[in-house]
Amino acid sequence: MTRITRRQFHISVLAAAAAATLPTFVRSETAPILHAREGSARLAPAEYPETRIWGYDGTVPGPVLRARQGERMTQSLRNDLPQASSVHWHGIRIENSMDGVAGLTQPAVAPGEEFLYDFALPDAGTYWYHPHNRTYEQMARGLYGALIVEENEGAPDVDLDEVLLIDDWRVTDDAQIAEGFGNMHDWAHAGRIGNWITVNGNGVWSSEVAHHTRMRLRLVNTANARIFTLEGRGLEGWVVALDGMPLEAPQPLGELTLAPAQRADLIIDVVAGEGEEAFLVSFERDGGYAIAAFPVTGVARQARLSAPGALPPNHVPFLGPLETAARAELRMEGGAMGGMRGAMIGGRMMGMRDMAAEGKVWAFNGMADMGDTPLLDARMGETVRIAMINDTAWPHGMHLHGHHFRQIGVDGRLGPLRDTILMNRGETVEIAFVADNPGDWLLHCHMLEHSAGGMMTWLRVT
Ligand code: C2O
Ligand code: CU
Repeated sequence: MTRITRRQFHISVLAAAAAATLPTFVRSETAPILHAREGSARLAPAEYPETRIWGYDGTVPGPVLRARQGERMTQSLRNDLPQASSVHWHGIRIENSMDGVAGLTQPAVAPGEEFLYDFALPDAGTYWYHPHNRTYEQMARGLYGALIVEENEGAPDVDLDEVLLIDDWRVTDDAQIAEGFGNMHDWAHAGRIGNWITVNGNGVWSSEVAHHTRMRLRLVNTANARIFTLEGRGLEGWVVALDGMPLEAPQPLGELTLAPAQRADLIIDVVAGEGEEAFLVSFERDGGYAIAAFPVTGVARQARLSAPGALPPNHVPFLGPLETAARAELRMEGGAMGGMRGAMIGGRMMGMRDMAAEGKVWAFNGMADMGDTPLLDARMGETVRIAMINDTAWPHGMHLHGHHFRQIGVDGRLGPLRDTILMNRGETVEIAFVADNPGDWLLHCHMLEHSAGGMMTWLRVT
């Protein structure tokens, strides 16, 4: 006897009813479930207890979701957390209603409820997913995972394809997640910086390789606020993509900076010898730490493979003339040592002290949080440029939803496609993109305490 799956059952029932086409609820009922719930994870070494976390399918990280370019991704979020939640598919040039921004593109999904995400994957590359409701708490508790879109053709030839989600956690002495998510000192400074770094939820992540193994490493910074500065030891190679988007030519890997939410795809050869160990090293104020280890056993091949070519490009529209582009300016203000006196909140002017009492310590153009009117109202297909001025004493990782952009250099040269860009204190960065995706899109700092503390605005494309 053949086993009848739920899907076949629905189809046969409908066929019996002589339905001409399958209504969409069939797809919704058979969508894989992405289950946001409590769980536990071994973040710390064996002498510590396991850590109680919140995770997709109860794990940290959540499942690696993989699909091919051009396919659809279908996932039904089932929320069994004690809080309302949502899923944002970070970096996907997605249809607006599937962007997962609670309060803008959908209502938050209440505990016990489900929400169906069903969207196209236009671009190959390394993406990720995370909540977009009380993100500063939900991500710090472990809710995130990788979304990998594979190239249809032209994928690089590698022995290993590893996804490395790099996170830092603030944990107590017994390895439990520290409370204090609303700590205004964190919010007004660098954000919630942790005291324990993991790769794929593991403080001692390691993967066995051979001499001259070639790997594709897909790095994602999933930390709330920490900026990672990374380097290889016994590993040599190239950066081939940033924020999912292929570079025109591979860049030799030196020191790599990843702001929160940024990704890098690397093609790496193990140059450490047999019996040695290669490392990915993170530089912190007090020195360098190996965050991922690659013990070398055996020899994959006698000589290194030749240098890789570029990944096949994704079809992001070319920028129109920049002189006539629609323009906006975004002045970033506030935070500790920023000298901001006050800002508008919900249509009311407030002094810094009153703002802080409301949990708001940052502002864009003199306004904390999203206003009723967008920063910019763009017409479909219009080229847009936004000058962002970091008038604060802190770095910020600015993220645009629904589009990838390029930095316009001071010399007029264009940077690589990105969805998140790191801005240092005092720096001005101008970005440009074609507003080709209709809807309301966030532009915010991805240091999650900063966005919750006011660094949030939006654009409209119609
Ligand atoms: Cu990674 Cu607004 O999000
Ligand atoms: Cu910030």
